[in-house]
This record gives sequence, C-alpha cells and structure tokens, in this order.
Amino acid sequence: MGVLLFTGGTVVTPDGSFGADVLIEDEKIVAIGAEISADGVETVDASGKFIMPGFVDAHTHMDMPFGGTVTADDWETGTAAAVAGGTTTIVDFALQDEGGTLAEAVEAWTEKARNKALTDYGFHVAITDLRDDTKAELSSLADKGVASVKIFMTYKGTPLYTKDDDLFEALQLSKEASVLVLVHAENGDVIQKLIEQALVRGDTAPRFHALTRPPEVEAEATGRAIRLAQVAGAPILVVHVSCAPALEEIHRAHERGQMVYAETCPQYFAFSYQDLAREGFEGAKYVCSPPLRDESNREPLWNGLKVGDLQIFGSDHCSFNYKAQKELGIDDFSKIPNGLPGVEERAMALWTLGVREGKISENQFVALLSTNQTRIYGMYPRKGALVPGADADIVLWDPEISITATVENRHGNVDYTPYEGMTFKGGPASVYMRGTLIYKDGEIMGEHGSGRFIKRSFVPPSMKSALV
Ligand code: URP
Ligand code: ZN
Ligand code: ZN
Repeated sequence: MGVLLFTGGTVVTPDGSFGADVLIEDEKIVAIGAEISADGVETVDASGKFIMPGFVDAHTHMDMPFGGTVTADDWETGTAAAVAGGTTTIVDFALQDEGGTLAEAVEAWTEKARNKALTDYGFHVAITDLRDDTKAELSSLADKGVASVKIFMTYKGTPLYTKDDDLFEALQLSKEASVLVLVHAENGDVIQKLIEQALVRGDTAPRFHALTRPPEVEAEATGRAIRLAQVAGAPILVVHVSCAPALEEIHRAHERGQMVYAETCPQYFAFSYQDLAREGFEGAKYVCSPPLRDESNREPLWNGLKVGDLQIFGSDHCSFNYKAQKELGIDDFSKIPNGLPGVEERAMALWTLGVREGKISENQFVALLSTNQTRIYGMYPRKGALVPGADADIVLWDPEISITATVENRHGNVDYTPYEGMTFKGGPASVYMRGTLIYKDGEIMGEHGSGRFIKRSFVPPSMKSALV
C-alpha cells in the first residue's frame, strides 16, 4: 500500500464542506489541506466528487438465526453489499444463546466474521438470557471492546423477549459496565395478544403484521424504556424508530435533558404500509419490526433527523429470501421472518430521498451515516472523521451517479430486493478502507477477511455533540 493523494474533491464533514486535498499513508489520513504536494504519491482525481468518511452501519444482522431460520446474508455476502453502499465498518448483533454466555456470543460472531469480512467490524451483544451470571458478565464486555448490548421488549414467545425488571437491571448495570443499552421498543405482551386475536379471526395475510403492531405499542414501549433509563440514571439508545408517536417520546425526553440517542432506518422512508398490503403474499417482502407505517409518519421522521432527535441512520439489514424463508409464513403472517435487506441501499436512499429533496444537508448526511455513529458507539475519531491520524476509510461520492436497483445488480445474497425498480441518484464511485481500494464502479475489489475487529469503548457523548 502506497501513499495516495486525493485532489480536486470537496471534503464533507458534519461541520461543513470545503475544497481540499487529502493525503493518506500507511492506512491513515496524514494531511488535509489546500494543494498538498508530496513526492512519490499516486494521485486520485476526485474532481466532481464529495470526499466523505467511510460510512458506518451499526445495525446489521449477518448470519443470524431468527424466526426459525438464518439470515440469507452471511459475512461474505453481507459485507459485499455493505461496501457497494459505501460502508466501511459495520457493528453487528452477536446473539447470546439460551444458556450461553455473552463471551460465547462474541466468540461465535468472531468465527462467523473470520476470513469473510470485507469491512471493519464490531459487535453489540443481543442479550436473550439475563441470568445472574450474565449480569456479572456484563462488566467484562468493555475489556473485549464490546461497548453496547441490545435488549428486546418484544418478540414474546421467543428467547429474545425481555421483561421490564430485567431491562431495568441491565440499564442499572450498564453504567458500571460502561456499555450502552440499545432497546427494541415495542410492547411484546400487547402485540402477542393482538396476533392471537387476528389469527382467531382468520386474518393471516402479511398486512396484519402491521395491524397487530400499531404505532401506539411502539410509542408506549419507547416511553417506558426511556423512563426506566431515567430511573436507572443511564443513557439509552432506541433503535429503528418508525413512527411519529415514538419520536414524540424521544423529543420529550430531550426537552427534559435526558440522554437518549435514537436511530431510524431507510425502510421507513422508502416504503409504507401500502407495500405490506400488496397483492397475494408479496407483502411478506416488506415484513420487518417495527413495521412499515403510513406515509404521515415520514415528515415527522425527516424533521427528527434534521433537528437531531434522531442522530443515527442504520440499515437494520436482516435479509431473508422470499422463497422458503418469507414463505414460512404463507398461512400465518406471524411466522414470516422479520427483516429487510438495506445495507447496500442505506446511503443511496438517504441521499436520494433526503439530500436531493432538501430534507437534510450533505453535512447531516455524513453525520447520520458516519460521524454520529462513531461518536455514540465509541469509535471516534479513528472512524467517522476526516482528520490526520484517522483510519483512511474514504468514500468518493458521486452526486450524479444513477443506479436502478434490481435483484440482479445487488451485491448481497437475497432472492429479491424490496427496492426493485427504484432509481437512486447519487452513490459511491469508489470506496477505500484503511487506504485500500475496495470498491469501484460497481465492482468489489476488497479481499474477504481483510476486515478487522475494531475495539470500541463507550464514553457517552453529550446530546449536543452527538447532534448533527
Ligand atoms: O425486523 C427486524 N427489525 N428484524 C431484525 C431484528 C430486529 O429486531 O432488529
Ligand atoms: Zn430490533
Ligand atoms: Zn435489527
């Protein structure tokens, strides 16, 4: 790997955009400035392009058992899709087995990623079994470079479901353990009841997935989790916020000064309940939790991103094939595995629907996809920043590229794309990870196994510094 000089591009950071050259050497950024000259460098012409820090997607599910099956993308195909979307680091959910330890979850995920990852990566641990020894083990996660855990308030009837007392205790313990608790906020008890009632009525089609998980059950659980965090005196992060009523709970918490971070995802902007209600079983392609909402939720969510109530835009990439996987629920929507692919489309969807439509700026785009993620998840400034000393993870973003998504041109391993036929305007022309070109003009150039584990440490950023 040599010395590279990017010339003629526009550097984009959360604080502003400016014309500058970027010099990288030995995996790191060494200088940013006007007309840098250096001997023996290879020059990369970045004119007409935005130079952005590599995107970070801290919400993926690769090679994960879920809903009676395993996600269609493993670390080889899932990180290929990530790279094609400009993502150079993912943070994936290592699932604790029932009866297993947190350390075993990390070991299992380390094996899954080994020799396969094209991006750098970290892990959250998804807690499924909060026994006394699990509670004691929480404090050892930080030493392993694992700075966050996820708790599910929903999926009742599976090991993922966690009761309030356990969520509360995890929040209390998280402070001592220096880990951030991420919460999937939907009221699992009420959803379970609504599902039972729907099935008794014979309402089995995919759209009943949304009708049995109304916005109010997400809002109620969001408010409850936030209040439990307040009592515990702990920060909390609400993942995959889908609707205005849940966002209102987050906004209220911010008004009273509580440390609540929050994420939303591309599917809540690109699709709606109407997709779930498609003819026949087609709606199964759009089953995820929280579910797709009606379009009235979109403007409030855009506003949440704009004003900083939502600081993170993650994909929640959790892919299942239509054939044999989504089809598990052909006679019963509650058996359709939950999740959509989106790691490849995340940035292009945010640019096309957000930046081009004037909803957010290019600087907010970088904050939401990269810098805020690394600040909150404990990788800043090694990742998410174009500053000397940072890893040379760089996206050359071409605002003029036009890509129409179709299953044939996706880089993952799914037999459909929910984005079929959707045209994105703006995308990555080339992607560098630690100074190495890993993607150019539609082609993956990186080597499987070149991704490295990134140790993270959670130091709660103030709400102000995590704001875009
Ligand atoms: O539908 C979803 N979101 N599947 C992935 C698991 C989760 O809850 O994040
Ligand atoms: Zn979730
Ligand atoms: Zn998820």
